[in-house]
Amino acid sequence: MKVSVFGTGYVGLVTGACLAEVGHSVICMDVDEAKIDNLRKGILPIWEPGLQEIVERNIEAGHLSFTTDAAKAVRHGAIQMIAVGTPPGEDGSADLHYVFDVADAIAASMRGYRAIITKSTVPVGTSNKVAERITAALKARGTSETPSFDVISNPEFLKEGAAVSDFLKPDRIIVGAAGAKARALMQELYEPFNRSRERIVFMDVESAELTKYAANIMLAAKISVMNEIANVAELVGADIEDVRKGIGSDPRIGYHFIYPGAGYGGSCFPKDVRALAKLANSLGHRAELLEAIENVNNRQKTTLFAKLIRHFGGAEHLRGKTFTVWGLSFKPNTNDMREAPSRTLMEALWRAGANVQAYDPVAMDEAHRIYGERADLKLVEDKYDALNRAEALIVCTEWQQFRAPDFQEMQSRLARKVVIDGRNLYSPARMKADGWSYYSVGRTASD
Ligand code: UGA
Repeated sequence: MKVSVFGTGYVGLVTGACLAEVGHSVICMDVDEAKIDNLRKGILPIWEPGLQEIVERNIEAGHLSFTTDAAKAVRHGAIQMIAVGTPPGEDGSADLHYVFDVADAIAASMRGYRAIITKSTVPVGTSNKVAERITAALKARGTSETPSFDVISNPEFLKEGAAVSDFLKPDRIIVGAAGAKARALMQELYEPFNRSRERIVFMDVESAELTKYAANIMLAAKISVMNEIANVAELVGADIEDVRKGIGSDPRIGYHFIYPGAGYGGSCFPKDVRALAKLANSLGHRAELLEAIENVNNRQKTTLFAKLIRHFGGAEHLRGKTFTVWGLSFKPNTNDMREAPSRTLMEALWRAGANVQAYDPVAMDEAHRIYGERADLKLVEDKYDALNRAEALIVCTEWQQFRAPDFQEMQSRLARKVVIDGRNLYSPARMKADGWSYYSVGRTASD
């Protein structure tokens, strides 16, 4: 099938590349010329396991191409996917102007039938707004024959760091579409992903849009609940890791997404929790639980710094001192630092007049892009070198290479044996026995 994907960000690029990989003919369109030039040469704007190979292979095979020409993408075929960004506006609600720009571009150039698919995470009701906009634009075009179209909601459930495998082996494919023609097209489009079992769940457009938010909010809620219980565990002297195993064994709760930590980050959970709260509010309903999920998370991101202050006897004692941060990305296997707990921590350290030596396996360039050159940030290429003469190590991201470090080596580099572990990677008992001041999340604190 011929597919056009508007937007070559995270969702758009992965979607386009993976649809090409199963044999569809895909054009990815973006207004950013530099990005498109790079993509044509196989230079990707994001780092994602497996994506580079798929993009290169499918450019080579002629299944995947890139353009900045919207009209060309609209002419390409019946399937038009909108996968542009919906960044949070000033007030936390999703800014839809990129989505509407694409809708306008499609309306301006479409000739025959088009299935217009919203893949971006959009507030409930957006697909209908897109439909109204296109209807109005087609009317205004005033051509004798008005082409028909459907607007379909087909939200994406990719996880960063596992986006390609999530797309190629989806748990479910949510399709919000009213008409039989639209549903048949989506069935055909996703047929290659559906062979071992039927994965498509058809529903109406609003339900599909809400499903996307509901999934992320449910997951974010699990994390905030666990983080809150971890905070209580510290006060009562319980071990959250035992509690986690204890409750995860109940299949109604499950083991997934109940890891306490330094708070969730990324481009999805924080934005989606806020956006749905905002939408509910605008409709006269105060979604208190959603507000609580966010508030708990924001506070959780400050707990690493709070532990540091407690250990050093006050923020004033951090001034002029150097601290090591391991892990800058919001989670492993990505260089994405949006809303990452590491940022909350580093910014608090800088406010307190402290210096940071940071190491991350892939996010150092991103950190440099965000913070630029500054005297109080040293990005160090080796995790042990990053410890040299620092007063404490703070672990913000659970990269595999941090799980079993050489503690002897760490001890020889650090000025003091202090570890604040935001991801519960080490054994409190062992750390204590080896003479470390070790603070984790929801486990017995160091004396
Ligand atoms: C999330 C969802 O998991 C995807 O299904 C969804 O498609 C995506 O948002 C989206 O809307 O685009 P992602 O943001 O890539 O994916 O990352 P997750 O793996 O879900 O992790 C989010 C955050 O939660 C990370 O900061 C992670 O460290 C944290 N987390 C996760 C915990 O603190 N504890 C856990 O038990 C699990």
